[in-house]
Amino acid sequence: MPFRIATFLIASLAIGAGAVAIFGWKFGWLGAWLGAALWLALDAWRAERLLRVLRNDASGLPTRGAGVWGELSERIRKLLREREQQTRQAEDRLQEFLAAIQASPNGVILLDEQGRIEWCNQTAASQFGIDAERDLLQHLANLVRDPAFVAYLASWNYSRDVVIDASGPRQAQQRSHPVRLSVQVHPYAGNRRMLLTRDITALEQAEAMRRDFVANVSHEIRTPLTVLAGFVETLQNLPLDADERARYLSLMGQQSHRMETLVNDLLTLSRLEGSAAPSGNQWIRIRALLAQCEDEARGLSGRLAPQGHRLSFSIEAESEISGAPTELQSAMSNLLSNAIRYTPGGGEVAVSWRLLPDGRGEYAVRDTGPGIAAEHIPRLTERFYRIDRSRSRETGGTGLGLAIVKHIAQRHGAELRIESTVGKGSRFALVFTATRVREARVLAK
Ligand SMILES: Nc1ncnc2c1ncn2[C@@H]1O[C@H](COP(=O)(O)OP(=O)(O)OP(=O)(O)O)[C@@H](O)[C@H]1O
Ligand SMILES: [Mg+2]
Repeated sequence: MPFRIATFLIASLAIGAGAVAIFGWKFGWLGAWLGAALWLALDAWRAERLLRVLRNDASGLPTRGAGVWGELSERIRKLLREREQQTRQAEDRLQEFLAAIQASPNGVILLDEQGRIEWCNQTAASQFGIDAERDLLQHLANLVRDPAFVAYLASWNYSRDVVIDASGPRQAQQRSHPVRLSVQVHPYAGNRRMLLTRDITALEQAEAMRRDFVANVSHEIRTPLTVLAGFVETLQNLPLDADERARYLSLMGQQSHRMETLVNDLLTLSRLEGSAAPSGNQWIRIRALLAQCEDEARGLSGRLAPQGHRLSFSIEAESEISGAPTELQSAMSNLLSNAIRYTPGGGEVAVSWRLLPDGRGEYAVRDTGPGIAAEHIPRLTERFYRIDRSRSRETGGTGLGLAIVKHIAQRHGAELRIESTVGKGSRFALVFTATRVREARVLAK
């Protein structure tokens, strides 16, 4: 400022001195006045130019001109340019953060001090049926009415989460069962809150399955164990003759065999779940697999029904299949032993192998047994699922056979197809992908 006053005085004095020199002392004051007026006008013009530009758009600032106004405008321009750049960078970073949160599979909602929605990502919007734009600044407690959630939000005690059903209409449409959400609030910046949601439907289902599984296993083991304990007590307390003793011991043998089978099946299942998928390098002849199945089947049929079953085995195309031989053998004989077990003596059981036109291979077991009602079919591969528990128990089944078959099929990229008509019979087929099947003409006899 002193610099500007000095410039002003010097300009006035200079013009005044010029006027004195030219026109004499009498006009000195006129010169000084003129100089001051000129300087002021020039100054006002520059200030106005700077102001006009600042009011509208900084890019129109005069390029560096002379004097203090020039420097001022240059500095303002630089400052504004830097500030603009910083704002743009901050904006870009904010957009990146928001995009990252949008991409999160978890829902995120930011609430202001009053509990109004400031921002939410798409996941949270669809979980709660919120419109991310229309519902901005709405109170979340008005939009999500679940009493447990409303109470949790109002409690300001967020040490643990709250579990609720998702309320979004899309959630309800997409799945037949309700989507379960775990919601946890994290306060930040004073009284602001961040809500994080997590879809825990699969987790809850897995937990329920685990509970069912443990209950089923315990139940399956307890039954033969109770029977065994009863026989042991009888043998200890009652004087039995040799024939009776032999009968009791044979029944005890059956029960212990039953437990052994159950434990073996459970171990097979856990081994199948825990190990890597079998490689595609080992090729096994279908004929060899079927031959073993046939031996087992004839033995089983003879034991179960005095008149046996009409068994037939056909191989349409000599082929090889790649995978784990023991697993494939187990899957194939499981289907066959079911057919024999559930088909009354004298019934027909036909086993076939053929190549489909698209190169896939199909192993099928058809029987003329009692058939399976349509409502049971989707559930047959569930662990411990049996249609008629009493009948299955008679034949020693625990309901793990088809669960094992399904696992083996999945590991070999095969599909288990079940067709059945009550009263007529069933057809269980394993359809193997073309990559695991090849013709074996060279080896054919
Ligand atoms: N060929 C079939 N005909 C009629 N019912 C069948 C046939 N195969 C399976 N089932 C039904 O499906 C149920 C499940 O079969 P799965 O093989 O999984 O168990 P299981 O035979 O009872 O016991 P496991 O095979 O473990 O000894 C059986 O209990 C039976 O009711
Ligand atoms: Mg079975």
